[in-house]
Amino acid sequence: MCGIVAYVGPKDAAPILLEGLQRLEYRGYDSAGVVVANKGLKMRKVKGRVADLAAAVPARFKGTTGIGHTRWATHGVPSDVNAHPHLSNDERIAVVHNGIIENADELRGKLEADGATFLSETDTEVLAHLIARTVKETDSLQEAVRLALKRVVGTYGIAVVDSERPGEVVVARNGSPIVLGIGEKEMFAASDVAALVRYTRQVVHLEDGELAVLRADGFSTFASDARETAKEPLTVDWEAAHYDTGGYEHYLLKEISEQPETVARTLRGRLDDRFHVAHLGGLNMDARETRSFRRVKIIGCGSAYYSGQIGAQLIEELARIPADAEPASEFRYRNPVVEPDTLYVAISQSGETYDTLAAVQELKRKGGRVLGIVNTVGSAIARECDGGVYLHAGPEVSVASTKAFTSTAAAFALLALHLGRVRDLSPADGRRICEGLRRLPDQIKEILALEPQIKELAHKYADSPSIMFVGRVRGYPVAREGAQKLKEVSYVHAEAYPASELKHGPLALIGPEMPTVAIVPDDELLDKNLTTLGEIRARGGKVLMVGHRVADAKLADDCLVVPKNEVELDPILLGIPLQLFAYHAAVALGRDVDKPRNLAKSVTVE
Ligand code: F6R
Repeated sequence: MCGIVAYVGPKDAAPILLEGLQRLEYRGYDSAGVVVANKGLKMRKVKGRVADLAAAVPARFKGTTGIGHTRWATHGVPSDVNAHPHLSNDERIAVVHNGIIENADELRGKLEADGATFLSETDTEVLAHLIARTVKETDSLQEAVRLALKRVVGTYGIAVVDSERPGEVVVARNGSPIVLGIGEKEMFAASDVAALVRYTRQVVHLEDGELAVLRADGFSTFASDARETAKEPLTVDWEAAHYDTGGYEHYLLKEISEQPETVARTLRGRLDDRFHVAHLGGLNMDARETRSFRRVKIIGCGSAYYSGQIGAQLIEELARIPADAEPASEFRYRNPVVEPDTLYVAISQSGETYDTLAAVQELKRKGGRVLGIVNTVGSAIARECDGGVYLHAGPEVSVASTKAFTSTAAAFALLALHLGRVRDLSPADGRRICEGLRRLPDQIKEILALEPQIKELAHKYADSPSIMFVGRVRGYPVAREGAQKLKEVSYVHAEAYPASELKHGPLALIGPEMPTVAIVPDDELLDKNLTTLGEIRARGGKVLMVGHRVADAKLADDCLVVPKNEVELDPILLGIPLQLFAYHAAVALGRDVDKPRNLAKSVTVE
């Protein structure tokens, strides 16, 4: 949700800022801009992609201090004027911002009464005018930013430059991430390590309420009361190469194809063949504590929530603890009852999703025990949780989540095994699950080998105005995620229903115009699922079945047979053909698959 990048050092800032923005473009891509400080501020900003901005930046755009931004609009339509950076009227101060200033209208009124002229419709512009007024009084950019932010209600990650202090950038965070990158006699800042790894692996995450001053020779950080804070740099293990398409046409296909390896990484070193348990050192809970929970509540947003539904099912089946998943965005607003004997699990690929972070904070405030299943090491949600499991899936660049979804489901299998084996899951069942988990990477390879067939089916169904996805119990979250993937990357309308619910309403939609993708695992509900297929076809609906048994293919119009694992683990595999289906449908329809319209990768606003 908007990408920020900042540089101060001996080099020309513009190429570094543009390269950083390209890496961050998945966070927002409706407009972009840069400012460099060099005898005044030079600015370029355009509606469109970072490539459009790069084309608009002239060769003479020189300066060794600068800030840049790629936008996902919240206040004001995407346009050149609403693009960041925003300048104060005297063009002394430039600001880029990620987040939402909730009292922007009130501040704007006051600033206009004080003579400020606003050029854009954005909430961000108030910051430029506020800081410009304060810097004259304080003669310190750092202090001016701190005092200006005291008047602001809302969330922000910001970077600020002052034409009278080239060689200095001030950044601050409250609810929107800011990471500092420490180079050799140069400093970087960005909303995401993606923009930094080409230059440095030494990073520092700012906490909410913190502010940092960057100069070529280093940085200092301060709390909101101006007290200096001490920060330990962290070494990130993600490399610049992880952010390349690696010869694939799209990141989405690259990330789908990486899944044998990424799932193997999620499992690596965590399966114990002696006791048939999972080792999850990061949970920070001893066996007694692990046994004490009577309920598990899982929260996450979007695809993370759907993977949480798979997780809840796994925990109930393997550990026999009541478990359910809920969208974090709903959970945080309904004043949830927080029980001492409930284990809360927050899921996030980015570790930044605002609603999930806010839900974790609400839980912690009420004394809840929260684990995180997170991909991004050192991210805000990971830092906030009491313990957790890192996915080790590597950076996910495509806006639609795929490998993180599958790795989260695998991580839940590990957690369920762990919780189960301190309770009543037998060693024999523990062994069965360990062996099943070990088979996953090879079985994913087998599914990926079905790509030509899946592509053909995607082309066949992509013209449908709407597609129904159905599944029962273990298959239902798979159906939900399949529908989610299809709608977000291809814009084909898709609905997901429990197969058992069709008769209670949605069957009215079924007919030749509305095909159904049915998830039909070979489990104890197989016969019921096959009956549903009959009901759909009796109403003229076409059925694409995703299941395990070749023998059932005749009951559908089309059939994708995928390798079978243990019944509890099958949902981890059944989602993968649906990712490829969505990808090829989107390509067939000419969509921008890695940057679907209206979306952004990390939703760091409410
Ligand atoms: C869908 C998708 C989103 C994210 C959701 C949560 O493909 O990517 O629904 O799953 O925004 O994001 P994280 O996992 O970063 O918290």
